[in-house]
Amino acid sequence: MSELNEKWLDLRSDTVTRPSAAMRAAMNAADVGDDVYGDDPTVNHLQEYTADLFGYEDALFAPSGTQSNLLALLAHCGRGDEYLVGQEAHTYRYEGGGAAVLGSIQPQPIINQPDGSIALADIAAYIKPDDFHFARTKLLALENTIGGRVLGLDYLKQATTLAHERGLATHLDGARVCNAAVKLGVSPRAAVAGFDSVSVCLSKGLGAPIGSVLCGSKPLIAEAKRWRKMLGGGMRQAGMIAAGGMYALQHNFERLSEDHDNATYFASELAKLKGLKVSTPQTNIFYVDIPADTCRALNDVLQLTRIRVSMSPHLRIVTHMDASREDIDRAITVFGDFFG
Ligand SMILES: Cc1ncc(COP(=O)(O)O)c(C=O)c1O
Repeated sequence: MSELNEKWLDLRSDTVTRPSAAMRAAMNAADVGDDVYGDDPTVNHLQEYTADLFGYEDALFAPSGTQSNLLALLAHCGRGDEYLVGQEAHTYRYEGGGAAVLGSIQPQPIINQPDGSIALADIAAYIKPDDFHFARTKLLALENTIGGRVLGLDYLKQATTLAHERGLATHLDGARVCNAAVKLGVSPRAAVAGFDSVSVCLSKGLGAPIGSVLCGSKPLIAEAKRWRKMLGGGMRQAGMIAAGGMYALQHNFERLSEDHDNATYFASELAKLKGLKVSTPQTNIFYVDIPADTCRALNDVLQLTRIRVSMSPHLRIVTHMDASREDIDRAITVFGDFFG
């Protein structure tokens, strides 16, 4: 292990995990071919497996969640079309404006409620009439989990039904939809019911090094495949990385509940410390408000004790498979010594 990663406890994100020995062995053993020709058996298997797991006709392997979401937006919408999206959503806020830059697709951002949802009344109100003054509203894009919060099945049903009744398609940024399914105690299919497409990340809590899978109908995936080639996402012997994703889906899905339990435990211990305002985690992500004048000193202590967290704008802690209960106890001691 490199000096850079040695002994650090990295709680900035669940994207930081490194592939386990067993996952690496699966990657090493992968049967491969040229995926641009459709000849990579491991990529084909991952796509078929994921489509079936989430209940879709077809699926497409993409190098990242950003690209997979972009493929969906480009496949659902054309030039001059619009998608409704939360102000806090990754596709709107953290993906470089790709849909606008590359697809001439206009985002219509809408405020997220404190629970992460977009109010149904807001969705209805932002759908534009069929009038040449307006962009054509084509798609509703939601995210689950969003900032670690889980959108409930009733809400998802109401939102997707409303969208469909008004002639819109629906896309789910399911970067952490496996966390949502585990938390809701439902099957992957039930967690995405009502969505015409979902982007599932393999490299977040599931622990694969690379990759996302876009699921949808055959025509949608065919369209996404054209865009993927254009964006430079057509990969060759990609079975090497797809095998890591397959391993992740088959071995690391159910264990996400451990990350949720660790987050709950960690947050409840931090909440006992004076001056800290700690959010209640629903899955593996939570936030801590710390007194402004302690930020710098805390940062120094965390550096010294080799702990990484996200500090801007709020202190954010994300649990994952490379952060054991023992690691979390060590972090709790560091925070306790500092704030105690
Ligand atoms: C909710 C959500 N969607 C999409 C992405 C994009 O994934 P990637 O980093 O693989 O592009 C992320 C990344 O953290 C995310 O948190």
